[in-house]
Amino acid sequence: MNNKETPSKLKPVILTCAQPTGNLTLGNYLGAIRNWSEMLDDYQCFFGIVDLHAITVPPKPAELRQNVYSCIAQYIACGLDPAKCHQFVQSHVIGHTELAWILTCMTPIGELQRMTQFKDKAAKLGFKVAEDKDSGDVKFSHEKMRAQASINAGLLCYPVLMAADILLYNADLVPVGEDQRQHLELCRDLAGRFNQKYSETFTIPEPYLAKAGARIMSLIEPVRKMSKSDDNERATLYVLDDPNQIKKKIGTAVTDSGSEIKLSKEKPGVSNLLTIHSSLSGISIENLESHFLGKGYGELKAEVTELLVETLKPVRESYQELIKDKSYLDAVLKAGSEAAQKRAFKILSKVQRKIGLPERARN
Ligand code: AMP
Ligand code: TRP
Repeated sequence: MNNKETPSKLKPVILTCAQPTGNLTLGNYLGAIRNWSEMLDDYQCFFGIVDLHAITVPPKPAELRQNVYSCIAQYIACGLDPAKCHQFVQSHVIGHTELAWILTCMTPIGELQRMTQFKDKAAKLGFKVAEDKDSGDVKFSHEKMRAQASINAGLLCYPVLMAADILLYNADLVPVGEDQRQHLELCRDLAGRFNQKYSETFTIPEPYLAKAGARIMSLIEPVRKMSKSDDNERATLYVLDDPNQIKKKIGTAVTDSGSEIKLSKEKPGVSNLLTIHSSLSGISIENLESHFLGKGYGELKAEVTELLVETLKPVRESYQELIKDKSYLDAVLKAGSEAAQKRAFKILSKVQRKIGLPERARN
């Protein structure tokens, strides 16, 4: 057998994952998915739908199942061509939870308790979080601690599962949003620790940062990021919104006092609309500012609406076709999971061997 591999000739591996929750926003599209779709030719791309992460806050079973289909259909509709990348469901690939367990046994609890997202989630569940300044220890208390209130261990261990998602593929690059940077740091630490203890095994993944300027803000409170979980439905544009919804939402989008159309900290609403325009039209902000000189907010909104309708129409139409065709979506996920599994098994077996788990007899 020729076991000489030529990794330098292979394209670098990009991996990213998203939870199958809800519909994709314009922020997801412009800040993430559209960029990924431009990378398909230059990288080996793995995109995971992380259903095991989604159960840390248990959804209704039927909803979870439907969300996975909806998620893959939206990805494809947004331009992630299944012929050029591997799209898989996390629970379909053996290795994520196996590696997560191995890494869990190498992760101090304190490191997980100090994760910003964990502390935020605990606080949302009503826990008081106190950090000892000297030792860095984190204490959680809840008045109903001994009654029904508790944080499940999955929420705590979530970043380790995320580390496993990445290391299982020896990913070179991981596109993540700012809120996931700390989790990626933990992943890098774990990979380094493992390599040091058991010899070189994992690639240390690098974060992949989106191009500047693609941060899309809430339409109602433009100083905050546009987010899936906004209570105000006018604040968020979804890629599946129809022309009417787009028109209404851009119509009620907050603008700023004055009438000048320019990018400025004092004009977050107008700046956001300019950013959306520029991202969709490809015209630089500078040129847009000259284009809108002497024109009013109404004209800016009309152009943004038109661009959105034009861009999102094919996405919505393609989604509507895809979501009806479950067998096609199943076939995409099957092919994606098989490719993912092939890579994952190699790395998992290597890890298992290195830490001394006995190999299975072959026959
Ligand atoms: P999330 O929806 O927070 O899980 O984010 C998934 C991906 O979309 C991440 O890579 C984020 O950086 C990107 N993303 C989410 N919201 C926005 C936004 N408002 N503007 C730009 N990118 C975003
Ligand atoms: N934790 C990420 C989020 O909530 C999703 C995620 C899970 C992920 N595993 C990953 C992202 C691996 C990148 C790589 O957004």
